[in-house]
Amino acid sequence: MKALLVGGTGYLGSAIVDNFADMGLDVVGISRRGGRSPGQRVIRAIGNLNPHELIHEYQPDVVLLTAGNPDLDACESDVSMSREMNVELVRRWATAIGHTASNITCVLFSSIYVFGQESPKEGLTENDVPLPISQYGKDKLEAEIIVRQHINHHLIIRLPWLLGSPGHIRDPLVGYIRKVMKGEKIELDRNTRFPTDTTWVAACLLHLLHIGSCGTVHLSSKDATNRYELVKELARSLNIDTNGTIGSNGIYPAPNLHTAIAMRPSFLKISTMRNDVRGLPEAPTWKNIIVDRYRNWNF
Ligand SMILES: NC(=O)c1ccc[n+]([C@@H]2O[C@H](COP(=O)([O-])OP(=O)(O)OC[C@H]3O[C@@H](n4cnc5c(N)ncnc54)[C@H](OP(=O)(O)O)[C@@H]3O)[C@@H](O)[C@H]2O)c1
Repeated sequence: MKALLVGGTGYLGSAIVDNFADMGLDVVGISRRGGRSPGQRVIRAIGNLNPHELIHEYQPDVVLLTAGNPDLDACESDVSMSREMNVELVRRWATAIGHTASNITCVLFSSIYVFGQESPKEGLTENDVPLPISQYGKDKLEAEIIVRQHINHHLIIRLPWLLGSPGHIRDPLVGYIRKVMKGEKIELDRNTRFPTDTTWVAACLLHLLHIGSCGTVHLSSKDATNRYELVKELARSLNIDTNGTIGSNGIYPAPNLHTAIAMRPSFLKISTMRNDVRGLPEAPTWKNIIVDRYRNWNF
């Protein structure tokens, strides 16, 4: 299987590139500017090359679309940016795949925020009707529809908040801990979240590709916390004193970062109804991820 991954320098994309390469798979990561993954895999800079040219060059069996902008408030504040990153980019790839090669499988990474309704305790499943209330959620839902329309063999994977490698430049936990170590005060929300490991997502993806899954799949850890508790626990495990530095004033995010704040349901959980997903490994808990990944990290 030859995989072409669009968004290879991203938080999720780079984790998939590293995990697939570690397993000896043929995976090529690309992004506009290129760079390296935390595992030092080269991500090729594609500049303005279009999807037709890239598909022709690489002849992939699978195209993994991880590129996008997952920052809800940035998307709410800049609608044209969100549409370009989360919709038009997907449209270009989906039409190119649909026109040039109907045997390519396309995987789109989507989000829990296609749902805007409060979820039941057991979570919203693939059978529930999405009802987005943010620009990001609306754009991700439109991207899903585009992929379904253009590509016969597609897989749409909806994900909650991700925990990835501390070696990634966008790792949020490293950013928080560095601020706390400098004595800066940070405010973190207490919305319930189900932090999900990017390495686990990569393993699940590989399983789903091997068994030829298609359609829509929800992947999520079942282990709940909130951003405030998680960062406090991480600091505690690193023996960092957080007295007076980590607050939770209920405002999310820092109000001066963006001009608009996206609406979010206060409790949003996804779960799966799919039998093929039931055979997947158990997702690691967020406490395990923290201990395994950050304990020896040089902040
Ligand atoms: N992070 C989360 O917690 C989370 C949760 C749920 C779902 N998701 C979904 O997962 C996906 C990945 O999220 P992420 O956190 O990994 O995002 P990210 O870190 O912001 O990465 C986005 C990647 O896309 C690349 N990119 C942007 N425009 C491109 C283009 N036109 N062509 C090729 N590459 C392009 C960027 O690199 P260049 O700038 O070099 O192009 C970057 O590598 C998104 O679709 C998001 O909606 C993320």
